Amino acid sequence: MDGNGRWARQRGLPRIEGHRRGAMVAEDVVSWAADVGVQQISLYAFSTENWDRPHDEVSSLMNLLASMLTMQLPRMCKQGVRLRVLGEISALPSMARNAIMHAVQKTKTCTRIELILCLNYGGQQEIIAGIRRLVAAMKAGELSDEALAGLTAAQFRHFLWRDELLPVDLLIRTGGEFRISNFHLWDAAYAELYFSPTFWPDYCREDFLQALQAYAQRERRFGQTSEQLQQRGKI
Ligand code: IPE
Ligand code: MG
Repeated sequence: MDGNGRWARQRGLPRIEGHRRGAMVAEDVVSWAADVGVQQISLYAFSTENWDRPHDEVSSLMNLLASMLTMQLPRMCKQGVRLRVLGEISALPSMARNAIMHAVQKTKTCTRIELILCLNYGGQQEIIAGIRRLVAAMKAGELSDEALAGLTAAQFRHFLWRDELLPVDLLIRTGGEFRISNFHLWDAAYAELYFSPTFWPDYCREDFLQALQAYAQRERRFGQTSEQLQQRGKI
């Protein structure tokens, strides 16, 4: 979700106004996704690197997060949105943390769509945490040297955060930048990438549907050849 600051600057508004508008779009995109049958949607709301922004902007973002979550909770429940969090939320101010934990608890039984809110999230940090867990498992005798030698990517995945995450199929970045910026480094290994020039606060349903249409045209080969895929389709 990129482009909040530039959207605001274009209008001579403070950056937080862009974030405020952006938060409303985030709310909408979850219902657009649910409408078309997306099972899991993950929003990169605050990265491990975002702490380096000016103090005022960071604290405004945290306040916005807490108030938006509290405000949106009834709608999330009504729409069947189950909230999950990815990232080290222990570092977040208690007001934001409490609002998150409350919303996670309240939406536990919702089943229509899962919203993974990435907060204080970094893909590299997630992989390092996975290595720490793996080493702990080895020390505890739960993983042998032989098992380590033959460890598959699927097996290593269990050491990362949130076992229930599905591989990322489509990764959309708005705001005209062509970067992944430490997002889902592991789970997006085979994601289809889609870049939109639209600043996030202007992102609309048509933009989202266009990205889905582009995704539907892609041939996902996962290392195989086109012919192999066609052959498999015939069986
Ligand atoms: C993304 O918008 C929102 C967050 C990181 C929370 P930016 O704040 O990065 O917007 P630009 O890149 O300055 O336009
Ligand atoms: Mg940006």
